[in-house]
Amino acid sequence: MEFKIKNGDPARQKTPCLILGVFEGHQLSAPAEAIDKASGGHLSDILRKGDMDGETGRTLLLYRVPGVSCERVLLVGCGKPEEFNRHSYRRALAAAVTLLNETHITAALCTLPELVPPGMEPYHRVRDAVTVCADNVYHYDRTKGEKKPPKSVLEHFDLWVAQEQDLEAARQAAHHGGVIARGIALAKDLGNLPGNICTPGYLADRALELGRDYPRLQVKILEEEDLETLDMGALLSVSRGSRQPAKLILMEYRGGPEDAKPVVLVGKGLTFDAGGISIKPASDMDEMKFDMCGAASVFGAVRCALELAPPLNLIGVVPASENLPDGDASKPGDIVTSMSGQTIEILNTDAEGRLILCDALTYCERFDPEVVIDMATLTGACAVALGKHPCGLFTRNEQLAAELLAAGEAAGDRAWRLPLWDDYQEELDSNFADMANIGNSRWGGAITAACFLSRYTKKYPWAHLDIAGIAWLTGKKKGATGRPVSLLTEFILKRSGQLK
Ligand code: BES
Ligand code: MN
Ligand code: ZN
Repeated sequence: MEFKIKNGDPARQKTPCLILGVFEGHQLSAPAEAIDKASGGHLSDILRKGDMDGETGRTLLLYRVPGVSCERVLLVGCGKPEEFNRHSYRRALAAAVTLLNETHITAALCTLPELVPPGMEPYHRVRDAVTVCADNVYHYDRTKGEKKPPKSVLEHFDLWVAQEQDLEAARQAAHHGGVIARGIALAKDLGNLPGNICTPGYLADRALELGRDYPRLQVKILEEEDLETLDMGALLSVSRGSRQPAKLILMEYRGGPEDAKPVVLVGKGLTFDAGGISIKPASDMDEMKFDMCGAASVFGAVRCALELAPPLNLIGVVPASENLPDGDASKPGDIVTSMSGQTIEILNTDAEGRLILCDALTYCERFDPEVVIDMATLTGACAVALGKHPCGLFTRNEQLAAELLAAGEAAGDRAWRLPLWDDYQEELDSNFADMANIGNSRWGGAITAACFLSRYTKKYPWAHLDIAGIAWLTGKKKGATGRPVSLLTEFILKRSGQLK
């Protein structure tokens, strides 16, 4: 898909479909006003008749509007003008794209970025328009037998800006947005693939493929024998019960000075989590194919970096494994020794994410990182606490917390901070090992999981994003979301100075 920036008289724009915002109370947006004038009051006539009340997300497609160069006009409701905000802006965009999909329109010009949700600069208005569009055009059909015609034939979604002085920011946003949208689509594709295709070996192959596509990326795959040499007893304990060998995938992009410390992204790559011997209930267990969405977000963010070429060093680290019951699988009560030397009593084999992550996080020490951020569908408790809108953010580093919260806010891919206080640490006490892999009460499960990881990340600035609630949608829209690729890319753009 292509996203171009347009400017100039809206009435003179040659496009199959011109998208205009209208508010409740018969109020036209500025570009809609211009079309109304050019058409001799055609739009205000329609509003007066009550065919379009401006309610958020309402759409009305018009043909043969007089006095304008476009083939169609699409009116999109934006709600009450005084209540207009980023949420209604995005809903209006999504509604417009849904209608374009349904009507099989191949190109459109959208003026909605000219509506100004409070606090939004032109750059993020345009970027939102691009990413919301791509999100609604995305279609998964890799594993469909009878290939239906695509859900969408939209190829050009151009954005109109009024002011000459906004053109540069808008062009940059369209470019960044397009790159981020493709990163998100990669993360969605990987997440949506079933566990019998998307195995640890498959993820490793996709990383190697990325390395072939982008010569600037160095990819290295560590095999189980390498992990044994490294004494990664925690990671290996999870893959014991699986016929699929575990992998540790390393993707290295060097865009900064040779001696600059790297930003390291670590993603949980559990390609299927049945729970192991502490087996999960059957209902909805299929959703545990999404347990590698942290890894998918690393792939997405790394590819965004390859496209945007920020002047910094970036390393993606993906521990990948399955978690299945088996005669050789870990049992509750088993004790394993992690790469750090700390021993772990596995009281619940379903708390496996932290086991594969702790060894990957210890491995990160060798990079002498500037910062390490891990993404993991780590706990159902995090989804219970925060719902499906923000991910959980855990860090002891105030500056890093502020940076990640701001990146999420700016990208519209928000995080919400949860505590990482020492008060919770004793939950992990074990009578037989240095720690247990679960808390000894039911409470604060997302926090005790983060506390566990904190014991392996003392040598560098670190933050953990628990993405269990945001990585996929359930119900009719079941599928991966590609989050938090957008937050991560925003973070990288800001860190590298590519974005002010
Ligand atoms: N992958 C799951 C977490 C999860 C569960 C994410 C449901 C999204 C939806 C993780 O490996 C897990 O099973 N965690 C356990 C931890 C518990 C055993 C302490 C959980 O959340 O129940
Ligand atoms: Mn689990
Ligand atoms: Zn899991």
